[in-house]
Amino acid sequence: MENTHKIALVTGGSRGLGRDMAISLARKGHNVIITYAGNKAEADNTIKLVEEAGGKCAALQLELKDLSGLDKFIVSVKTTLKEKFNAEKFDFLINNAGMGGSIPFTTATEKDFDEFLNVHFKGVYFLTQKSLPILNDGARIINLSTGTTRFTNPGYSIYASMKGGIEVFTKYLAKELGARGINANVVAPGPVETDFNNATIRNNPQLKTALSNLSPLGRVGQADDIGSVVAFLCSEDAKWINGQRIEVSGGINV
Ligand SMILES: NC(=O)c1ccc[n+]([C@@H]2O[C@H](COP(=O)([O-])OP(=O)(O)OC[C@H]3O[C@@H](n4cnc5c(N)ncnc54)[C@H](OP(=O)(O)O)[C@@H]3O)[C@@H](O)[C@H]2O)c1
Repeated sequence: MENTHKIALVTGGSRGLGRDMAISLARKGHNVIITYAGNKAEADNTIKLVEEAGGKCAALQLELKDLSGLDKFIVSVKTTLKEKFNAEKFDFLINNAGMGGSIPFTTATEKDFDEFLNVHFKGVYFLTQKSLPILNDGARIINLSTGTTRFTNPGYSIYASMKGGIEVFTKYLAKELGARGINANVVAPGPVETDFNNATIRNNPQLKTALSNLSPLGRVGQADDIGSVVAFLCSEDAKWINGQRIEVSGGINV
C-alpha cells in the first residue's frame, strides 16, 4: 500500500459522495476528518464505515451558509489532528460539501444566491486559504464541481455559476500553490443518485430514466463512481495531474 496514513479533510462526508470519498481514501490506507452540517448520526455512520475500511476517522460540524465560524472550525481541525492523529498538519483537502436546489432564474432571490455563494464558492475559497498553514507541502486539493458547468440544466443558474467559479479558482490555486508542491484539481460529477437536491434522482423515476438515457453507459452515477477517482487523485500515480477539471459522468452529453 503506497503513501499510507496520510490525513484527508473531506467536507460533507456524512453522506453521498463525501462518504464514499472517505471510505475510498481509507481503503488506500489514509485517515480522514469528515464534516457534517447537521446530520451527526450519518456522520457517525461514516466513521464506522471508514474504520471498517481500515482508517481512523473523526467528524466535525461545519455549516458553510454562515462563514463566521470558519476560524473556530480551523481550531477544531488543529485540535483533532493533535488528539486523534498525533499530527500538526493534513495532506488532502477535499472541498465537497454542498446542497442542490432547482431554482428558476426568473424567481431566484438574493437569499438563494447568497446561500449558494457561501456554501459553494466563498466557503471553499476561504476554507482553503485558512487551511494553508495546516496543509503539508506536497498536499492535494480537490474541489467538487458539476457537469452542469459544461452543459445546462434549467434551475441551476446559481448553483452551476458558483461551481464555474470554483473551476477558475482551482486553476489559480494550482498556479499559486505550485511552489509548495501542492496540486489542485476539480472533479466534476454528472448526475449521481444521492440525497442531493432532495434526492431528486431517487425520487423521480422519470427524471432518472431521462438522465440515464443521456449517458452512453445508460445509467446515472452512484456514489462509488466518484470516491475512487478522488482517492486516485490523492495517490502518487496522479502526481502530475494539476490544474485540471476531470468530469466523472459516464460521458453524459458527450
Ligand atoms: N449528487 C449529484 O448528482 C452531484 C452532481 C454533481 C456535483 N455534485 C456535488 O457533489 C458534492 C456532494 O454532493 P452529494 O451528492 O454527496 O450530496 P448529499 O448526499 O446531499 O450530501 C451533502 C453533504 O454536504 C453537507 N452539507 C450540505 N449542506 C451543507 C452546508 N450548508 N454546510 C456544510 N455542509 C453541508 C451534508 O451534511 P449533512 O449530512 O449534515 O446535511 C452532506 O455531508 C456537492 O458539492 C455537489 O454540488 C453532486
